[in-house]
Amino acid sequence: MNKLQDIKNFDEWLESVVKISNSNLEKLFASLSDVPSELLEVMKYASLGPGKRLRAALVYATSEIYLKDIDETESDYLSHIVSAIELIHAYSLVHDDLPCMDDDDLRRGRPTCHIKYGEAMALLAADALQPLAHEHLLSSSIEAEIKVNCSLELLNATGASGMVGGQVIDILNVSNLLKIEDLKDMHSRKTGALIKSCLTMVIALFRDKHGFSESLNKYAEHIGIAYQVVDDILDVTQDSDTLGKTAGKDEQNNKPTYVTILGLSKAREYATELYEKAIEALASIPNSDRLKDLAHYIILRNF
Ligand code: IPE
Ligand code: IPE
Ligand code: MG
Ligand code: MG
Ligand code: MG
Repeated sequence: MNKLQDIKNFDEWLESVVKISNSNLEKLFASLSDVPSELLEVMKYASLGPGKRLRAALVYATSEIYLKDIDETESDYLSHIVSAIELIHAYSLVHDDLPCMDDDDLRRGRPTCHIKYGEAMALLAADALQPLAHEHLLSSSIEAEIKVNCSLELLNATGASGMVGGQVIDILNVSNLLKIEDLKDMHSRKTGALIKSCLTMVIALFRDKHGFSESLNKYAEHIGIAYQVVDDILDVTQDSDTLGKTAGKDEQNNKPTYVTILGLSKAREYATELYEKAIEALASIPNSDRLKDLAHYIILRNF
């Protein structure tokens, strides 16, 4: 973990985040001794595929604001938070791809979970990832009150008023031309909330000791929406090979997106505007360069 903090080059740092996050998840799965092997295989398939680990990166980048040298204990705490978020994210992708939702057959460059293992196994494996995420977080050696707060942040972000609520708004509005405020509300729930929880959990871990929570929350809200705006843009500008998922899927499914509602060039302008606001929110926060780099990465990525 010390090594991670010492890596100056952003691309190298992100590569290390991916490796560390994957290895943490692998260790966690290896420790599960009482899970039917068929189920474990699907849970691993859903979680260990080549994801960008953006949420993990946000957790590690936020921790740099609080700690210059991360020791083994703190590194262990962070790894529990990171694994919990990535497990929840993985579950959300499996459900998002199901025939009753976006009906997608490609994810992270591979067949989606239900294409490979069937709908029932995909649904149940994703179901199993959710309690595993919280069990892992709550069985860490993080101080009791803090880990409960972290778990609550994650539960609020992903529940009915957060991610699931956003997914419901998404499927209820197929073929609808949503108003811009409603589109923003949908994006901030379905994608923004989980992204924001990456920061709020680290803030909770360090008990907001510098009083940065307001600024960090603002940053998180801006990049959370920007992340989905860019996802919508990439859906129409990239091919399936680059994306590792089916290009043009939003149009095919008549989804309201920033591109369908604003047009491509206004959607790009909006992503840039959100990026600038995110950077502005970090203005008075020392050691926030990594978060700035991540905001930049979020709007410039091509998959
Ligand atoms: C895809 O998330 C779903 C959205 C919320 C836009 P990511 O683009 O972070 O997916 P992975 O984890 O890199 O596969
Ligand atoms: C997914 O949004 C959001 C969640 C999984 C919660 P999308 O449906 O746009 O994600 P992709 O494009 O399939 O990754
Ligand atoms: Mg979707
Ligand atoms: Mg989808
Ligand atoms: Mg999408």
